[in-house]
Amino acid sequence: MLVFVSQTYVAGFIRVTRTLVFAILTAVLSSFKFGYDIGVINAPQQASETCTIQIPFCQFLSKKERYLFLIRRNKVIISHYRHVLGVPLDDQNAIDNYASTQELPTAPYLRNPTLIPEAEEETTASAGLVTMFWSLSVSSFAIGGMIASFFDVDAWSISQTALPSPVGFQTWPGIISGLIPIYIGEIAPTALRGAIGTLHQLAIVTGILVSQIVGLDFILGNQELWHILLGLSAVPTVLQSLMLFFCPESPRYLYIKLDEEEKAKQSLKRLRGGADITKDITEMRNEREEARREQKVSIIQLFTNSSYRQPILVSLLLHLTQQFSGINGIFYYSTSIFQTAGVSQPVYATIGVGAINTVFTAISVFLVEKAGRRSLFLIGMSGMIFCAIFMSVGLVLLNKLSWMSYVSMIAVFLFVSFFEIGPGPIPWFMVAEFFSQGSRSAAMAVAAFTNWTCNFLIALCFPYIADFCGPYVFFIFAGAMFVFTLFTFFKVPETKGKSFEEIAAEFRKKSGSAQAPKAATEMKFLRATETV
Ligand code: GLC
Repeated sequence: MLVFVSQTYVAGFIRVTRTLVFAILTAVLSSFKFGYDIGVINAPQQASETCTIQIPFCQFLSKKERYLFLIRRNKVIISHYRHVLGVPLDDQNAIDNYASTQELPTAPYLRNPTLIPEAEEETTASAGLVTMFWSLSVSSFAIGGMIASFFDVDAWSISQTALPSPVGFQTWPGIISGLIPIYIGEIAPTALRGAIGTLHQLAIVTGILVSQIVGLDFILGNQELWHILLGLSAVPTVLQSLMLFFCPESPRYLYIKLDEEEKAKQSLKRLRGGADITKDITEMRNEREEARREQKVSIIQLFTNSSYRQPILVSLLLHLTQQFSGINGIFYYSTSIFQTAGVSQPVYATIGVGAINTVFTAISVFLVEKAGRRSLFLIGMSGMIFCAIFMSVGLVLLNKLSWMSYVSMIAVFLFVSFFEIGPGPIPWFMVAEFFSQGSRSAAMAVAAFTNWTCNFLIALCFPYIADFCGPYVFFIFAGAMFVFTLFTFFKVPETKGKSFEEIAAEFRKKSGSAQAPKAATEMKFLRATETV
């Protein structure tokens, strides 16, 4: 528990100063924006100008094509609805009912689906383009992340990031998904590094929740105000740009990268308040010695040098597992998933997901320093496998037993809870724990790129897979999770409370090699202090 004491908060025996709190809050504003952008795409689905809301490239479409886009988009929803509920697309009553409850702008077409092929025929050339735009509208956000993962975060100081405009808002989440965990990890007191690392994820899920709430149709998710809903996404970035000027630079960056001992001490003093900083300095000195002995490692070397191969493969495994759990299928399309499950107020159920998601991430902040990273990850994944099975079973049996909609809904809630206990936050900071200064930024770039690429693929393909598999869609994710969980069980070492030699020994054992992975051994000082 944090207790307010004059200039500082006291968490157990560790002092948490106002400056530290301010710096962390400032840093995680980007994570908040990352979450807001993920959640916001869900909300305006029902607004009639969806085309322009969801895809800026719609500007390039003619009026007719925009209309066609709306028809096709709603057809996807309708056919998804049909698959899951077992309502045939040509069931006039079901479609009428759906169209009127949703107040779809395309209601005349939906009421008379035979008009759709006719309209499509007229513009067959652009029909494919329109469908592609629709999928891209959801997934484009992740493309920015993929590109930006390769910005060399190591070469950036946190104050340089106060100038986000040159890289654009879409690429921003990719940079911050690597930079923020590094920055907050570097300014955090060692004993709180895991808990503070989880705050990145907590801010993401809070962003998702806030966007879901302000996206309600009676708040901003409507025809008149959707511009503001999307525009609000810029607020955290602007705010952060201002606040960053008052944040201390990472002392590790100053000391190890720039060799600025005095400045590093000043920064540490600000972060630690009146507390003794000798231990931090010794720790950084040791780390600098290590860094001097170590060459900066390139991405290629991560894969070609046998010392890094095992930890980088494990890092990729963690991120692949996280994304192929299908979590973003739930976040991007939860409203339509609840709709298909027959939930009468799907938007509120979506907000429920966001709220549960936030609560469980907050719980994980406390659990992560108590239970191990590996055990939390495995418990989370196992729980998600069962939930995915229940989700699909609920949807399959919905035709016969109407109460199955509750089974699906509860399964979705538990699915996100298990995700946030481990598989959500852990991959983002565990990768940094596997690597030292020389290789950390390259490893984070590869990990973030993998994460964003999978995120993109899921966002792009989920509607098609859901359309193709109908209610069985979550069985596929359950299968994928099972395979990935097995790999995790055999390949991922526990890092909590272990020195780097111990982590190295674990990697050695798991890879069956006699050589100690450099990535871990070189970090012995960092880890050794973490056990203090
Ligand atoms: C993690 C994932 C991200 C997902 C989020 C949901 O941060 O990396 O893709 O949307 O969790 O909470």
